[in-house]
Amino acid sequence: MLKLLKGKVTLVKQIAKETLEMTFQNEYIAKTALPGQFLHILVKETMLRRPISIANVNEEESTVTIIFKIVGSGTKRLANYQVNETINILGPSGAGFPMENLCNKKVLLIGGGVGIPPLYFLGKKLAEDPSISILTILGFQSKEYRFYVEQFESLGETTVTTDDGTFGKKGFVTNALDDLSDIDRYYTCGPTPMLRSVTERLKHIEGYISLEEYMGCGVGACFACVVPTSDGKSYRKICQDGPVFIANEVKI
Ligand code: FES
Repeated sequence: MLKLLKGKVTLVKQIAKETLEMTFQNEYIAKTALPGQFLHILVKETMLRRPISIANVNEEESTVTIIFKIVGSGTKRLANYQVNETINILGPSGAGFPMENLCNKKVLLIGGGVGIPPLYFLGKKLAEDPSISILTILGFQSKEYRFYVEQFESLGETTVTTDDGTFGKKGFVTNALDDLSDIDRYYTCGPTPMLRSVTERLKHIEGYISLEEYMGCGVGACFACVVPTSDGKSYRKICQDGPVFIANEVKI
């Protein structure tokens, strides 16, 4: 259930170029959040909340980790928070990734840039069932932007691509799809062109996409985040119906 909450910051760390990891304490989120859900964070001195997906939780320590890229004034201010400061959170919000019926199945996680964090939370949850094989493809602009590669490697076979070839395979995540077979389900999150390519290439496989969209209210009231359904007959609200959708359920 969505709640207005506070979190005491316990860690702020730069983990890649323009990319920060922040951990804060909040027992409710740590115990109830589902992979794929997001937090709507009110950054001090700004009017709007920023939707940021959950990268990890630690139930024992009641901590929650987010990873974000500095892309504007809001995320720049968020990056300036210090340990022991308090952040104001609305969440956990939205629908998470479906995780049922995966016993003995092979799952592929495909993440691009700041779309990667929710896939780590998902991968960790899936890894609790040792019968699930987890493969991951991570795409970054270049080696300075890479993060969490070792964490994903601890979950299973991981391939990294960089646009400029400075780390891993040169090219996009879709270039790494050629080497894969027998995937039962995929989950993907990243820039929209990447999601289009992935869903087109893997249209014969059950898949789920997570959409990153600038939001307004974050609670289904303002229509700032709507996307049309694939048949064009209806629409979905990313903040409420998503951010996770069945691949090809919506037009992206
Ligand atoms: Fe307001 Fe989704 S952000 S309806």
